[in-house]
Amino acid sequence: MHLAQLKLRDFRNYARLDVSFTPGFQVFLGDNAQGKTNILEAIYLMATLRSFRGVGGAQMIRHGQKGYFVGGTVVGQGERDIKIYWSAAERKLSLDQQPVRRLTDYLGALRVVVFCTEDLQLVKGPGRGRRRFIDLLLSQTHPGYLTLLQRYAGALRSRNALLKQRMPDEAALDSFSIELVKAGEEIIRLRHELAPKLSPLARLAYRRVSHDAEELRLTYAPTVKADFAVELAQSRARERTFRSTLIGPHRDDLDFRLNDRPAGQYGSEGQKRTLAIALKMAQAEYLTGIHGSPPILLIDDVMGELDAKRRAGFMPLLNRSEQAHGQVFMTCTEETWPRELVRDGQRWDVKSGILAKAG
Ligand SMILES: Nc1ncnc2c1ncn2[C@@H]1O[C@H](COP(=O)(O)OP(=O)(O)O)[C@@H](O)[C@H]1O
Ligand SMILES: [Mg+2]
Repeated sequence: MHLAQLKLRDFRNYARLDVSFTPGFQVFLGDNAQGKTNILEAIYLMATLRSFRGVGGAQMIRHGQKGYFVGGTVVGQGERDIKIYWSAAERKLSLDQQPVRRLTDYLGALRVVVFCTEDLQLVKGPGRGRRRFIDLLLSQTHPGYLTLLQRYAGALRSRNALLKQRMPDEAALDSFSIELVKAGEEIIRLRHELAPKLSPLARLAYRRVSHDAEELRLTYAPTVKADFAVELAQSRARERTFRSTLIGPHRDDLDFRLNDRPAGQYGSEGQKRTLAIALKMAQAEYLTGIHGSPPILLIDDVMGELDAKRRAGFMPLLNRSEQAHGQVFMTCTEETWPRELVRDGQRWDVKSGILAKAG
C-alpha cells in the first residue's frame, strides 16, 4: 500500500499542495517549523480521521481560513480516492467519490503507523493513551470494532448522565447497563485476544532496538475480572458515591513490564523511549501479519533522536516495508538525517509550507 497523491488546501501552513509520491522512502528535510510534521499529520488524518497531536479539526485549519481540505489517492490492491473537508459548519468525507455513511466502510482504506515524540506518553502518560493505542489497532484489524466502541461510549454517556441525578431512574439505568455490558463484553474479548499476540512482537522489537537483556512483557489489564454484568451490579454502591460508571473497558489499561517490573515506574528514560518505539513497531508488524502488506510508516523526528545502534534495530522493519513496495515517510533536519538508513528514496526540502524535490 502506498500514498500516490496528496492534496492539501488551507491545512496548517499549507495554502495549497499537490504532490505525487512513489513507494519507498520519502524524506522531508527542513529547519524547524517549516511544515514537515504537518504533512505526516495530514496523512495520519486520512487514515484515522484524527490528529496524532491530539488536537481537534479547528486547529488544523490554516489561520484566517474557514476550512481545510485533505485528499489523496491510495494505491493498494486497487486505487482508493479519499477526500476530507472540515470546517466549523460542515464536514465532508468521501471515499471513491461517494459520501461515507459508515466509518467502518472507510477505515482500512489507508493504514498507517506513526512514530512520534508523543509516543512516550504511551509509557509515561495516563491509561487513555494506551486504550487509544489498542483501540486503533483493533479498529485497523476488525471492521466492526469502531461501531462497538461507539455503542459502548453512547451507553456510558447515558448511564453516567443518569448517575449524576439525585434519584436515578433504576429501570432506565438497567437498560443502559444491559447495552453497556453487551458492547463492553465484546470489546473486552477482543482486547483479551489481542494482547498475547502483540506481546511477543513488542518483546522482539524491544530486543532489536535496545540490544539489552531486559524482557518486555505486555499484558491486558481489564477492570472487569470475570463477569461484567455481575461486577457492574456489585459496583452500584460505589457508583452512588462517585456518580459515574467505575468499571468497564473505559477504565482498562495495558501493563508493560521489563524483567517483571512495571516499566512506567522503574524504567529509565531511555528504556521508556525504547519501549514506546517497540510498541509502534509491534503495531506495524501485527498489521503486516494480518493484512499481508505493511502499513505506511510515518516517522516524525524519532530517528534523529536515536543513536546509530538503536536505529539499526529499526532496519528489519524498514527493509521489509521497502521490499513489499510499502512506503515510509520520515522527517528530519539536515543534522539528524540518518543517512545510513535512507540511501535511496526521494528527498524533499520543506520550507514555509512549500515542498520541493531535492536531488
Ligand atoms: N493552523 C495553522 N495555520 C497556519 N500555520 C500553522 C497552523 N498550525 C501550525 N502552523 C505553522 O506550521 C509550522 C509548524 O509546522 P510543523 O510541520 O510542525 O513544522 P516542522 O517542520 O518543524 O515539523 C509553524 O510555522 C506553525 O506556525
Ligand atoms: Mg516537526
